[in-house]
Amino acid sequence: MRANDDVGGVTMRYALISDIHANLPALEAVLADIGGRADVGATYHLGDLVGYAPWPNEVVARLRNAAIPGVAGNYDSTVATSYKHCGCRYEDARQEELSHLSYRWTLADVSAQTKALLGGLPFRIDLRPMGGHASGPTMILLHGDQVLNTVYVHEARPDAFLEKMGMALGARSGDAVCVGHTHKPWHRVVAGIHYVNTGSVGRPKDGDWRAGYVLLDVEADAGVRVEFVRVEYDVDRAARAIVESGLPNELADHLRTGGAAPAAMNG
Ligand SMILES: [Fe+2]
Repeated sequence: MRANDDVGGVTMRYALISDIHANLPALEAVLADIGGRADVGATYHLGDLVGYAPWPNEVVARLRNAAIPGVAGNYDSTVATSYKHCGCRYEDARQEELSHLSYRWTLADVSAQTKALLGGLPFRIDLRPMGGHASGPTMILLHGDQVLNTVYVHEARPDAFLEKMGMALGARSGDAVCVGHTHKPWHRVVAGIHYVNTGSVGRPKDGDWRAGYVLLDVEADAGVRVEFVRVEYDVDRAARAIVESGLPNELADHLRTGGAAPAAMNG
């Protein structure tokens, strides 16, 4: 008898959204797209709700009102603790300056309630769509790696890096390890474990300005299937609001170009 005979035919479809970064129009477009899909069973976020755009309180409130759970990104945990910087990587002096400007703006703007909600986010969430009483796959949701939410799990990481990560997380063949943080979507299978980077809703860096998220199907018999979705949104509204808010104009350029602008930053 196969281990999954008692749950054969069960399918669960998750929507995974990450790195919204205070971009309310992008979040609204993605939630509308997800809402139009009757087959999505649950939506989770993978962190970095705030930073770089002027709606941190609104984005956190929107997710709370929609009862969408998720994990803490580096931006969430550094803002929640008023840490000295956002834990973001930068490649030159201007990127560093922009990063600090955005972080200071966000720290000054977030309400006590937003900070408390960000501080309460868990580091990791495990999902067992087959119920946990059967040996179906586990979905592990994180922002960075298993130790720090500041570590970039990007597509160029060697198999050995991912294998070590999977082992440290207790993942087994057939499971899925889902991360955000790099703002570039990708999917690889190493030693039978799916590694999925969800990309970014509100600040993509792969040259495509549209908001990105992932549909993850888990089937008792067929295993894990990953679909990357892109959604058009009112990017002009977001760019205009950045300029009007006093945030650096380069952050608006980033949104319009999907990170192809010269001062594109990591986050
Ligand atoms: Fe991010």
